[in-house]
Amino acid sequence: ELGPYSHFMQKEIHEQPRAISDTIEALIDDGAFRCELFGATAADIFKQIDSVLILAAGTSYYAGMTAKYWLESIAKIPTSVEIASEYRYRDSVPNPKQLIVTISQSGETLDTMEALKHAQKLGHPFSLAICNVQESAIPRASSLIYYTRAGAEIGVASTKAFTTQLIALFVLSVTLSKVRGLLTDAQEQQYLAELRQLTGSVQIALNLEPQIREWAHRFGDKEHALFLGRGIHFPIAMEGALKLKEISYIHAEAYPAGELKHGPLALVDSNMPVVVIAPNDALLEKVKSNMQEVRARGGELFVFADADSHFHASEGVQVIRTPRHVGALSPVLHVIPVQLLAYHAALFKGTDVDKPRNLAKSVTVE
Ligand code: F6R
Repeated sequence: ELGPYSHFMQKEIHEQPRAISDTIEALIDDGAFRCELFGATAADIFKQIDSVLILAAGTSYYAGMTAKYWLESIAKIPTSVEIASEYRYRDSVPNPKQLIVTISQSGETLDTMEALKHAQKLGHPFSLAICNVQESAIPRASSLIYYTRAGAEIGVASTKAFTTQLIALFVLSVTLSKVRGLLTDAQEQQYLAELRQLTGSVQIALNLEPQIREWAHRFGDKEHALFLGRGIHFPIAMEGALKLKEISYIHAEAYPAGELKHGPLALVDSNMPVVVIAPNDALLEKVKSNMQEVRARGGELFVFADADSHFHASEGVQVIRTPRHVGALSPVLHVIPVQLLAYHAALFKGTDVDKPRNLAKSVTVE
């Protein structure tokens, strides 16, 4: 069942090109972003909404955080993202024109299910479930559904489910942009082309595994790590820190790199490895100056750059380059190396990668 792989997590990391292409198959066949991908009534619902509220837990919540950047930049629709177990227990201001988007790999997470019911009780008529398991509880309770087609995910740490959630959320962003009259034909074709090329780029990122394994060995004797990112890559830093924590038991925290100087910089010394997600985007120069703050305190930097980042390894600065920059879809590419880093750090420490202590695959309790 595992084929050439040692664990389900490793197998599932390597299945991501296939999982992504399956998740966009209908879209690519159509050659257009059509509302019907989300359900028969989606065209009608998408026309009525004025904002989006995303509810999810754990890794799925980080997919939601990433989606906020796309929904506001591509579809220009105001978006909030909230941890499901928090939303259901606070007073909030309902808006019947707001689309509730739940994200759940299993479709059975109690916190997310209850948050959806809470939103419905408050008077939100429109909901969309992004889910990997057909006919599970959350999609059954939702007006619209987009099934990710990652296939069964067995490793407790979510990997291919996360990347396919990102894909579904990107498709949602472009589709809403079209409904709102913001998308030109040329842009639509451009986004389709970027999606088609993505699987190739993800494969190239997977090929970095031997280099990442080398890095991971240097984390094996560390007790803590920091992950930094900015903008749309901040949620990817969060996801990298979560992966490292849950399977290698190394304490890891993520910060938007600009926040470092407002507190966490006090933690940095030669025992604190700092992982930086640093593709060549509008924030790269800012990230570089944040990195200098780390180096000045003796922190060792492990930088995931891309082909255009213009970085060079130097004393205390290791660089691994993902070979291509993929525009708006860059977060999908940049999560691959941090998944591999966590996997190999855990292997090095000898933990039970597929079944980390204290965790369950589907959390159906509060
Ligand atoms: C982390 C992980 C969890 C889940 C969370 C939500 O690797 O897998 O954080 O993402 O428990 O689960 P779903 O997506 O099934 O609702």
